[in-house]
Amino acid sequence: MRILVTGGAGFIGSNCIRFLLQSHPEDSVVNFDKLTYAGNLENLADVADDPRYSFLRGDICDESAVEQAVGAVDAVVNFAAETHVDRSIQHAAAFIDTDIKGLYVLLEAARAKGIERFVHISTDEVYGSIEKGSFKETDPLNPSSPYSASKAGGELMAKSFERTFGYKIMITRGSNTYGPYQYPEKVVPLFITNALDDLPLPLYGDGLNVRDWLYVEDHCSGIDAVLRKGRPGEAYNLGADQERTNLELTKRILALTGKGEDLIKRVTDRPGHDRRYSVDSAKARSLGWRPQVAFEEGLARTVAWYRENEAWWRKIKDGSYREYYRQMYGNR
Ligand code: NAD
Ligand code: TYD
Repeated sequence: MRILVTGGAGFIGSNCIRFLLQSHPEDSVVNFDKLTYAGNLENLADVADDPRYSFLRGDICDESAVEQAVGAVDAVVNFAAETHVDRSIQHAAAFIDTDIKGLYVLLEAARAKGIERFVHISTDEVYGSIEKGSFKETDPLNPSSPYSASKAGGELMAKSFERTFGYKIMITRGSNTYGPYQYPEKVVPLFITNALDDLPLPLYGDGLNVRDWLYVEDHCSGIDAVLRKGRPGEAYNLGADQERTNLELTKRILALTGKGEDLIKRVTDRPGHDRRYSVDSAKARSLGWRPQVAFEEGLARTVAWYRENEAWWRKIKDGSYREYYRQMYGNR
């Protein structure tokens, strides 16, 4: 397969490109990415010279660039998105552009070309919060943040393409993902890198919100299973069954970095903060997918990676990130 990966210079996309090239020697990948603040070609330095890999800089909202890119492939996997909940609360315009309009542009191009395998990467956050039990794919979408509302909007646009034009894609709804190359705005890399620098770990609210932690390689193998064995028109939850409170997560990061709990700084909660995410992944498991990495093991690997790749995250944290951090956490 020749696969167009959009948003491949980000966290999950770059891990997934590496995964696809390693697991499927016959496949080739075109990485189409706008290189926003979150896109970083250093994430793919080790595959840059692979003849099966190429990079195209572009915006998924740009119709002619997308038409051209889609014209040269057999399958599309769309990771391109604005992804950080806190940034969507500050300013949602880019989320609406990329996560809704961008997906629409991709759908139009893929429908025109008759692309049969199109996987759109969505999130478990489209269901909203759940106190007990787990969401199934048939549950209604009930998003809370401008980020998750934009992702849900994209999904509904895809559903409309199915009902209106009979064009069917596959959707994955993965849970909170962590691992190497994650931009240090998300809680895991933010807390690891702050702890390594003896800086405070800003824990929101009572710290008892629950997330289900999926190691990035497991997320990639789930996407790959859906790409090859999923049924067009279907959505697939990808959860890890590794639920932890943010406080448990924080304490484990402190233990793994050898730092004390005095670094925990309780800060004002995020507005509209979802209490708990949980999805039932039986449908993806019926494709033969199983997450392999337990939370404690995955977190230990992730801390080791950030320790060994200081240059990667220091470069990010020294740039425009400083201003973001000041705005988000300065007076919190
Ligand atoms: P990320 O923020 O690390 O990377 C996003 C990538 O998309 C970047 O390379 C960026 O340059 C690119 N991009 C943004 N706007 C673009 C545009 N208009 N055109 C082309 N490229 C554009 O994101 P991530 O954490 O790797 O998430 C990837 C996907 O997985 C997203 O769709 C996200 O909603 C979904 N997801 C993420 C998580 C998570 O925990 N990180 C969990 C479930 C689902
Ligand atoms: P995050 O990594 O932003 O992912 P999401 O909001 O998509 O789940 O946050 C994960 C959890 O960590 C969430 O409950 C919010 C919390 N959190 C903090 O307590 N402090 C922080 O500085 C950040 C970024 C998140």
